[in-house]
Amino acid sequence: MEKIVVSGGRPLSGSVKISGSKNASLPLMAASILSDAPLVLHNVPKLSDITLMAELLTHHGVQVSYDPATQVCALKANSITNITAQYDIVSKMRASIVVLGPLLARCGKATVSLPGGCAIGTRPVNMHIDGLRALGADVFIENGYIHAKAPKGGLVGTTIVLPFATVTGTENILMAAVLARGQTTIKNAAKEPEVCDLAACLVKMGAQIDGIGTDTLVISGCTRLAGASHSVIPDRIEAATYAVAGAITHGDITLKNVIFDDLLAFWDSLTRTGVVVEKTHTRSDSVVDVRVHVPGDIKGVDIMTEPYPGFPTDAQAQFMALMTICDDAAMITETVFENRFMHVSELCRMCANITVHKASALVRGVGQLVGATVMATDLRASVSLVLAGLAAKGDTTIQRVYHIDRGYERIEQKLQECGALIEREK
Ligand code: EPU
Repeated sequence: MEKIVVSGGRPLSGSVKISGSKNASLPLMAASILSDAPLVLHNVPKLSDITLMAELLTHHGVQVSYDPATQVCALKANSITNITAQYDIVSKMRASIVVLGPLLARCGKATVSLPGGCAIGTRPVNMHIDGLRALGADVFIENGYIHAKAPKGGLVGTTIVLPFATVTGTENILMAAVLARGQTTIKNAAKEPEVCDLAACLVKMGAQIDGIGTDTLVISGCTRLAGASHSVIPDRIEAATYAVAGAITHGDITLKNVIFDDLLAFWDSLTRTGVVVEKTHTRSDSVVDVRVHVPGDIKGVDIMTEPYPGFPTDAQAQFMALMTICDDAAMITETVFENRFMHVSELCRMCANITVHKASALVRGVGQLVGATVMATDLRASVSLVLAGLAAKGDTTIQRVYHIDRGYERIEQKLQECGALIEREK
């Protein structure tokens, strides 16, 4: 199994080009099921999750081609030949659940394995199921699979109030509703930029969606969607991760291709630690380059994760890594997932001082982290250990690198280009 070895203690300097968003790309790829016309996605990152989604869609009969050099993913679903998403793929990648809504809308039925729990929580999909039931589908669970069947004549629009602004739940219901009869209103919809990117692409395909970017989506269903060409938004969590890499090493890093406004709560917290965050170059209306540098000590800042536009749960582990070396203390509260502190015990093996009580972790800053062999159980936890390793004295070996490869494209190269001593070993 591969591992990453980081020799810490070097301030990073240079620039990092931020890749396309993983969590936007996955539902966008699934949206190809909704139409028999080609969907061409640009800026799709080369990640193992993208390969898995391509494999899953191929099983359903979608023709998928991906060119890592151009990062173009072309998808065409002439006909859907298989409506079952098997356990062996869904269990490897929970995001596979986003084929449920499109398969049901296009084929009138779908069978998708229940993803099960994962390292960050039980992660049920009850809200996805309830939303599809509200659209008239008959949904039952048998042998670990969700079986969904649309009523005769297809799904029917309605008003759905989500108990929590679930991201993939909103995406699933949205993709089902675009081909439903009549109007669907999703209240308390997730407003994450990845949801908005999906909605924007669906609009290019001919869907009628009002309220994009708000918590109320109003969808007027149509009978057929066309093809489209769409460029995936930059990955805001990758940007946040490299911003912490610059900060934790007291370095000076420029992040290229960032939608600054997608990370406002994160920038605010980072700035309050004493890190300087400044826009240096405007690439388009929304895309900028951001310079992150550190004039003095890192101060402790409390954060609480929340749905967008709050502090993203996907950047919590990275921010915690930064707080381990702050000059006082910080309280980090996780409200989105019930079990997203798996990195704490590994950070403590690197001499961090962290106490967890229920949903909060009290991080007392230590002068210096010390390298160790560590192991992580999910994507963001793993990357937080890489970040800690960059700041630690000596070598840090991170095992189970496959977690990182799910969501970080060429991480060693990107960090090496900024002066990090980081290698992958077999
Ligand atoms: N929830 C339910 N029932 C549901 C759906 C969600 O109880 O039917 C709960 C979850 O258990 C969780 C909370 O609601 O406690 C929020 O979950 P959400 O559904 O919003 O998460 P998700 O859609 O499964 C996406 C991202 C995650 C990210 C979360 C929150 C994708 C593919 N995944 O997951 O990304 O953490 O939203 O922003 O978009 C990651 O990239 O590392 C990652 C985990």
